[in-house]
Amino acid sequence: MTNQAWLTRSGEETEALGASLLGVAPPANAPCRVVTLSGELGAGKSTFARGVLRSLGVQGTIKSPSYTLIETYELPEVQVLHLDLYRLHDPEELENLGLVDYHRPGHLWLIEWPERGAGRLPQPDLGFVFSIASDGHRIERIEFVAPTK
Ligand SMILES: Nc1ncnc2c1ncn2[C@@H]1O[C@H](COP(=O)(O)OP(=O)(O)OP(=O)(O)O)[C@@H](O)[C@H]1O
Ligand SMILES: [Mg+2]
Repeated sequence: MTNQAWLTRSGEETEALGASLLGVAPPANAPCRVVTLSGELGAGKSTFARGVLRSLGVQGTIKSPSYTLIETYELPEVQVLHLDLYRLHDPEELENLGLVDYHRPGHLWLIEWPERGAGRLPQPDLGFVFSIASDGHRIERIEFVAPTK
C-alpha cells in the first residue's frame, strides 16, 4: 500500500480523521489489528485515538493511559487496547501487562510511543506518524506508513 498523508487544523479535525480511518468495527473475529501512533509530544496521537474510540462506541470520559500505560474497552463489536508507552522505562516491563491475552481476533490495539516497547510488541498492521507542521498556525501532519513486515 502506498503511504498517504493528511493535514488537520484542529483537535476536532484530528479526532474526526481517527473516526473516519479506524472508527468502524472490523468484522466479527477479524484478526487482531495492531496500529502504532508515533510522533513528537503533543502531536495529536491521543486526540486521534479518542476519535477512534468514540466512533467505535465508547461513551463518557475517555481516560488517558499515560500513567496506567494501558486502558481497555470491551465494546459490543470489538475489544480495544489503548497503550501509551511514554513512561515505560524498559520494554521488559510490558510482560507485566499480560498483553498476550489481548493479541487475539476481535481486538484492536492503538499504541502511542511504540518505540518504547521495541522488541516486545507484535508487528504492527498499520502505522501513523504525527508531526506538527507549524508555520505560525498549528497544523498536524498525519502520515500513514506501511509497516515493513
Ligand atoms: N491539528 C491540530 N491542530 C491544533 N491542535 C491540535 C490538532 N490536533 C490535535 N490538537 C491538540 O493538540 C493537543 C495535544 O494532543 P494530544 O494529547 O492528542 O497529543 P499526543 O500526541 O497524544 O501527545 P503525547 O505524546 O503527550 O501523548 C490537544 O489539545 C489536541 O486537541
Ligand atoms: Mg498522548
